[in-house]
Amino acid sequence: MSAVRTRCDRTSAWGRLQAHYDSAGRYFDLRQAFAADPQRFGAFSQPAPHIFADLSKNLIDGKTESLLLALAREAGIEAHREAMFAGEHINATEDRAVLHTLLRAPASTAVPPELASELAQVHTTLDAMLAYAEQVRTDHTITDVVNIGIGGSDLGPQMVVRALDAYVAPGKRFHFVSNVDGHELAGVLRGLAPEHTLFLVASKTFTTAETMANAHSAKRWFEQSGNVDIAHHFAALTTNVEAARAFGIDTTFGFWDWVGGRYSLWSSIGLPIALAIGAEGFRRLLAGAHAMDEHFRSAPLAQNLPVRLGLIDVWYRNFHHFTSRSIAPYHSALQRLPAYLQQLEMESNGKQVDASGAALPFGTSPVLWGEPGTNGQHAYFQMLHQGTDAIPLEFVAVRDPAHDLEGHHRKLLANALAQAQALMVGQQDAGGHRNFPGNRPSTFFVLDQLNPETLGAFLAMYEHRVFTSGALWGINSFDQWGVELGKVLAKDIEPRLASGDMAGLDASTAGLLARLR
Ligand code: F6P
Repeated sequence: MSAVRTRCDRTSAWGRLQAHYDSAGRYFDLRQAFAADPQRFGAFSQPAPHIFADLSKNLIDGKTESLLLALAREAGIEAHREAMFAGEHINATEDRAVLHTLLRAPASTAVPPELASELAQVHTTLDAMLAYAEQVRTDHTITDVVNIGIGGSDLGPQMVVRALDAYVAPGKRFHFVSNVDGHELAGVLRGLAPEHTLFLVASKTFTTAETMANAHSAKRWFEQSGNVDIAHHFAALTTNVEAARAFGIDTTFGFWDWVGGRYSLWSSIGLPIALAIGAEGFRRLLAGAHAMDEHFRSAPLAQNLPVRLGLIDVWYRNFHHFTSRSIAPYHSALQRLPAYLQQLEMESNGKQVDASGAALPFGTSPVLWGEPGTNGQHAYFQMLHQGTDAIPLEFVAVRDPAHDLEGHHRKLLANALAQAQALMVGQQDAGGHRNFPGNRPSTFFVLDQLNPETLGAFLAMYEHRVFTSGALWGINSFDQWGVELGKVLAKDIEPRLASGDMAGLDASTAGLLARLR
């Protein structure tokens, strides 16, 4: 039985936070705060496993944080966190446990008796998946790996394979096909030889329309070329092993319904990662995430990085009413990080009702968006510095580069530091056009290197941060009913595109359909 949470707006701390915001929080000025407190950087920095976070350029002071921490306690975040780790069915609308943390728990972890068989299955599957990955890595007939999957079955593996490019052994190319748009698959297939290609069909449900269409087309392309060895050239990563077999794939790696799609890169959905960086690299990724799980579970709330971040997110969304947050990874290998985080945060917390189904009287997920620095600086940073909306920005910087090109990394880091500084300090100009208001909040993350452990820890930190804000908002962060309606309507419209049947359609849909036929 899951511990009862108290929705944030029903706590006494909520009212105190509103009073604090009205009297002081809305007028908070970072420049004054730094001038008044020489210890501010230390007080608002938070080391955590593999990550250092500077929170000091956020619009918070000691009082704000202590009220937010009181809110977290009153809302019952600790009990809810334990309910997740204990395997309670906190994903109530799907009646499922939420146990992605178990995927990175070492085999020797002490777990409650009811989770012992799950942990054993996790390790049996992990060992089999990694053994297969090592075998394929030494199979020089396979030069190209094509992952066919969408959403969580694409974004996580794709982002990690690109992020850890420096660890990818030469000799294999990795392709990711997600869109039902045939241009994508056709473009990839054009450069491939069937006898040198391994297709991974990645789908938790093995029913997702886009993935099934791409998988069928890939199989047809493979068979039409005269190849028959599906066992050597296709593997499926899914909780629905029967459907994969019915599709004709016998090489399968399973996982479980208690792994949400957007939390699944740690499961057999991570096979492309294991193929790219090897079994040892994959275990290092899991170890980094596990270290962050331990931190989230055991560090006091006041020194708990995911909790502090999640609380700032609530402060910004519900008191400052910021509607978006931008992320700027100052590392080009983290190019797909914003897209990955969009699914993680917006599919998890983009909800308008609480876990009981009651309408929420406050905002939930912000819009998350971004591009690697320094590219974003020459595109939309104008608006971040001088636009009419304040948008909290998140910097991710890596101390050690994975290349030896003279001078580049120093310039890159200088830009990250300068942008955070400029957002905060601003610049006075009576003429207006060169005026920077400043006092624009940012968070600055530092990783010593971009390696499997640090990346694993960073991603787990984000998962738990999303858990924290979702828990306070009282929502179910682990379902995604909002994606269903469009899927159903697309099934109705698809045959109409062939037949021209407009019966019952609204005038706009009918008009557009006529133009597209
Ligand atoms: O449509 C949304 C979604 O269900 C995501 O939550 C999920 O990651 C994605 O589709 C892919 O689902 P599957 O892995 O079952 O193909």
